[in-house]
Order: sequence, then structure tokens, then C-alpha cells
Amino acid sequence: MKQQINIIGCGRAAGSLARLWLEHGRFGIGEVMNRSESSSRKAVRSIGAGTAVSGLDQMKPAGFWLIGTSDDQIEGVSKALAARNSELRGALVFHLAGRFGLDVLAPLNNGDIHLAALHPVRSLTDTALSLEGFAGTACVAEGSGEALAMLQPLVTSIGGTWLPVSGIDRGLYHASVSIISNITKAVAWKAQKWQQRAGLPDETATAVTHQLLASTMEDLFRSGASQSITGPVVRGDTSTIEAHIEAIRAAHPEDLEIYRILARTVLELAQERGDLDADTLNRFKVLFGESAGG
Ligand SMILES: NC(=O)c1ccc[n+]([C@@H]2O[C@H](COP(=O)([O-])OP(=O)(O)OC[C@H]3O[C@@H](n4cnc5c(N)ncnc54)[C@H](OP(=O)(O)O)[C@@H]3O)[C@@H](O)[C@H]2O)c1
Repeated sequence: MKQQINIIGCGRAAGSLARLWLEHGRFGIGEVMNRSESSSRKAVRSIGAGTAVSGLDQMKPAGFWLIGTSDDQIEGVSKALAARNSELRGALVFHLAGRFGLDVLAPLNNGDIHLAALHPVRSLTDTALSLEGFAGTACVAEGSGEALAMLQPLVTSIGGTWLPVSGIDRGLYHASVSIISNITKAVAWKAQKWQQRAGLPDETATAVTHQLLASTMEDLFRSGASQSITGPVVRGDTSTIEAHIEAIRAAHPEDLEIYRILARTVLELAQERGDLDADTLNRFKVLFGESAGG
């Protein structure tokens, strides 16, 4: 008999994982409950398994309970689930929110229920996500030893990379992963706009951006940011940076502050590497809107 996973809040993330668990074959999907019954039915249709229900009281006991709601609903669902404390004895209850650890599951913390936080560090939006596509996804997990022992097979069976942590600063952790993913995409989007304004045809701008991102990732993975970074700031090429600033001021003055803020981070890295003499450093600080010598 397959171990059953009940799902409260089965949208993009929980729905994607449910399909992967089914595809792997070791786990089964039990009851699925969203806010509206029509949404629960839609989730079940999309997964291809499970039973749509409209209330917690219709959910049968299961070994695993996934709370896959939006972040702000997790605590409320935990409180509601706590009314079924006795039926949850020995079960694992976990959520998927990177910004929370175990605190948000506190209403269920009675010593009999195993609690965990599982953060798959990738966008889960694609209904066609396959085991192959998920393979290697970083899965950051937090919980007691027993909770992690129950959770690990759910992660490794579908090819996730198991990364247990303990007592991390969730705000800072989530801010860090958000900037890597969201800001990379937003910066690439903005850079393409500059390229189009510079006169590059759309396809050329796309090719330039994609190829540069790909080679940047290769360099980064091979030797890290500090070793692999190049460009006018680490070279100390102040006149090239002046030309950038003039061009942005003329074409996209509203973006000048963004350029300066991002470039200040590059300068911080160059400074840590010890690349720049004091005069060049101060010149860059002025160009990037920092006080020289500060
Ligand atoms: N998507 C990602 O890329 C991703 C990646 C990693 C982690 N996560 C985490 O995964 C969690 C879910 O994110 P998501 O993107 O999958 O959100 P989503 O697509 O909006 O899905 C949330 C689901 O939860 C249901 N729901 C909301 N409140 C509920 C409640 N009180 N009771 C029962 N069901 C409820 C919604 O039902 P209705 O349809 O009826 O409103 C919806 O189906 C979040 O904690 C998020 O941080 C997401």
C-alpha cells in the first residue's frame, strides 16, 4: 500500500510536487482541499489522482499532510488542523514556504506530530514539470530528526537535493533566494530594454542576453563570483563607467539610480578583492553616488 499524502492548498507548488510523487510511484495522493470546492476538483483533475473535498472533516487520516497554501494562510490552516490532533499522531505535517520555519506550525506542536518546513528552491509553475526537470532542485528542509527522516524520502524519491538546515534567519534566507531568482530575471528584462533602445533588433537582444546569462552562470559555478568577475569596475576603467552613466542618463534617466546601486555592489566586490587603488575607488564612489572616502 502506497503512503498517502493529504494536501491542504494544492496550487502551483503542491500540485507540481503531487504530480512528481505520482510519477515516481512510491506515494499516493489522498484528499485534496483548496478554498473552493471547484478549485479542489480542478487540482485533482490536474494531478490525475486524489479526492477533492470541501472541508477538513472530510479528510481521512494519512501519514503525510502537506500545507501548500499561500504563506499567509499556513498558520490558520495549522490552527484548524490542530482540532484533529489525536488523528495526526505520528504523521508528518509540512509546508513549502521559504520564509517560514517551524514557528508557523506552532499550533500543531504537541510532541505527537512531526513538523517540518520544506522549501524547494525553484519556480514551481509548470504543469508539465517532469522528474527529469525537477532533478537536482535544492530542497531546504527544517524539522526534528524524526520529521526529517520522514520527509527525506519525499524529496529524494523525486530527485531533489536534500539540504537540511536548523534555526536559520528565514527573513534573510528568503530575501537572498528571492534576489537571486527574481532580480536576475528583472535585471535581464531591463537590460534587454536598454539593448532595444540602443538599436539592437529584438532577436539579437534576446540572443545576447541569453548567451551572456548562460556563460555568466558557467563562470560563476566554475570559480565563484569573486574569482570570475570581470568588467570595467574591477579593471578600474572609470572612463567607461562615465560613458555608461552618460548613455543611461540620455536614454533612460529613470534607470540611473538602479545602475548605480547595482554597480555599487560590484564595487564592493572589487574592493574586497583588493583590485583598486584608493584614487580609483574614490572616483567610482563619486560616480555611483556614494561619498568618496566613506
Ligand atoms: N510556486 C512556487 O514557485 C513556489 C516555490 C517554492 C515554494 N512555494 C511555496 O508554496 C506555497 C504555495 O505557493 P503556490 O505558488 O503554489 O500558491 P498558489 O498557486 O496560489 O496555490 C495556493 C493554493 O492554496 C489554496 N488555499 C489558499 N488558502 C487556503 C486555505 N485557507 N485552505 C485551503 N486551501 C487554501 C488555494 O486555493 P483556491 O484556489 O481555492 O484559492 C490555492 O489552490 C507557498 O508557501 C509558497 O511560498 C511556492
